Amino acid sequence: MGPGEPRLDVARVRGLFPGLSDGFVHTDAPAGTLVPESVAHAVSSAMRVPVANRGGVFPSSARTEGLVASARAAVADLVGGVSTGVVLGPNTTTLTYAVARALARTWRHGDEVVVSRLDHDANIRPWVQLAEQVGVAVRWAEVDIETGELPAWQYDELITPRTRLVAVTAASNAIGTRPDVAAIATRAHAVGALVFVDAVQAAPHVLLDRAALGADFLAVSAYTFCGPHVGAVVADPALLAELAPDRLLPAPDRVPDRFESGTPPFELYAGVTAAVDHLAGLCEDAVGSRRDRLRVSMAAVAAYEGGLFDWLDQALRAMRHVQVVGFPEHTTPTLSFTVPGMRPRQVAAELSRRAICAWDGDFYARELFDALGVNELGGAVRLGLAHYNTAEEVGYVIDSVAALRSAL
Ligand SMILES: Cc1ncc(COP(=O)(O)O)c(C=O)c1O
Repeated sequence: MGPGEPRLDVARVRGLFPGLSDGFVHTDAPAGTLVPESVAHAVSSAMRVPVANRGGVFPSSARTEGLVASARAAVADLVGGVSTGVVLGPNTTTLTYAVARALARTWRHGDEVVVSRLDHDANIRPWVQLAEQVGVAVRWAEVDIETGELPAWQYDELITPRTRLVAVTAASNAIGTRPDVAAIATRAHAVGALVFVDAVQAAPHVLLDRAALGADFLAVSAYTFCGPHVGAVVADPALLAELAPDRLLPAPDRVPDRFESGTPPFELYAGVTAAVDHLAGLCEDAVGSRRDRLRVSMAAVAAYEGGLFDWLDQALRAMRHVQVVGFPEHTTPTLSFTVPGMRPRQVAAELSRRAICAWDGDFYARELFDALGVNELGGAVRLGLAHYNTAEEVGYVIDSVAALRSAL
């Protein structure tokens, strides 16, 4: 980061998070970040006033309409989409299944879909299962087992004139790898295939631009970017209008509502808006539209988290009793590691005893950890940073992982 570039005032930022007062180091962000007071306040405020269902002619119903419109506008700003292309739902997995079912209706026997071994299972299994049901072939993009990269060149072979869909992650939830999604999408679009991008782990760390990524569908989950447990899929409204998702007969047929089943958690939508506002406000001196402020704030987040992560990553790689999984070049601030001689659960328990939150397991990156041989070891331990982590915390985590040596 150069002089004069916006910086994150982490002391101020930490003051926004009541959850940080529990005395733990929260390095479990990939499974869900803490929420700032503004998000909790937005949700509880939405429940303190009359909230009705949508579509009524009375004021509390109009208020609910506003909650939905605001959440859609916020997510659109976050990923560079338009409100009418923002489908909200309970989580990314449920929405991916909904889109997969709708797309599968357009597939024909002999068509092909391409999934990647790098992905969270949420962006693999729906496609594989729907492909099986329709008689569509599944082709797999492989991970370089030395580096944990997902080489884009392999898509030259994988994508054929029969390819209908390419599903790929913008960032691995297990080892942080950020593949060249735009290059993969260019290859997919050259044959008329659609691209479904899982941005659940990218959204908290970089400013996304759906069009620049070439994502026909882009999925995010607000609980990874300081919001509540709500998911969203963003697409071109014209594309959504072409698809026929499962839908109750009396439910609205307009876009994007036709993809949203049942009565949603309107109060949580208030939290989605507050979460995007939180990100946009991380740099207090950022000005302009919310998208402009997001651009500045997320650049500061990326620079700040990147500096901390490089330190963590290099320190762990230098420890002889630790094996960091993969060695990707472009990453989010997430890594997984093993300690040969200790079960991952034991490592996580030892870190927890030292007041560090760290996940163990395969993190639903089952295909990746099978391919890399990590599951044979019982999985790995994951550390993921968020913009509220400090250098002091990272130093403490490094010391704590170093101290595991004495338990061997
Ligand atoms: C990369 C990635 N994709 C998809 C998911 C699934 O998201 P959700 O829990 O919203 O269904 C996760 C959850 O951790 C994830 O990390």
